[in-house]
Amino acid sequence: MHLAVFASGGGSNFQSILDAVQRGDLPQTEIALCVSNKLQAGALQRAERHGIPTAVLRPEDFDSAPAYVEAVLGTLEAHHVDFVALAGYMRKIPSAVVAAYANRMVNIHPSLLPAFGGQGLYGQRVHEAVLAAGVRWTGATVHLVDDDYDTGPIVAQEPVIVEHTDTPKSLAARVLETEHRLYPQALRLFAEGRVRIEGRTVQITPPAS
Ligand code: GRF
Repeated sequence: MHLAVFASGGGSNFQSILDAVQRGDLPQTEIALCVSNKLQAGALQRAERHGIPTAVLRPEDFDSAPAYVEAVLGTLEAHHVDFVALAGYMRKIPSAVVAAYANRMVNIHPSLLPAFGGQGLYGQRVHEAVLAAGVRWTGATVHLVDDDYDTGPIVAQEPVIVEHTDTPKSLAARVLETEHRLYPQALRLFAEGRVRIEGRTVQITPPAS
């Protein structure tokens, strides 16, 4: 798998994917590219430290939406990217890019979707909403990317208990730890060719023995 990781922020999920590759836990996977819409993204610095190619692609730098799409697709193609992982990427991916990577683009979201997802529910806001709703469990979800926010078929989930003493910050930290375990595991399923998408649902085939 020739993976591109898109990240806008600190890039701890990017790091967990990179660590998994380096440990040998993500077989047949190479991080071919790290893409960001932020020049200062921590993820870009992490990539550079490890000699992974980087690209900054900001819609506002292009004359038109089609020109931006062309640049994104051209960059992915130039790096032979065949799979995309969004890891804290704060821009909506244009439809044409989603279509080009249909069933080959995933995102990680810090809640148990379909709860606490959708436009405007990102970062700390997710955990604030979880606490305000008084639910006892939250978690992390890896899902395929479609044209809407957080609505694509679910690939993997892991629950996290909500403690009475939690603040959005403490909850975010525990969910993030879970994300770091879950994302590489989910990507491994794709690398091993074990993911079958049937409409809205994802079937995982058992590992080859
Ligand atoms: C994660 O919580 C992810 O689920 C969300 O944004 C955060 C990114 O964190 N979409 P990091 O940049 O990977 O540290």
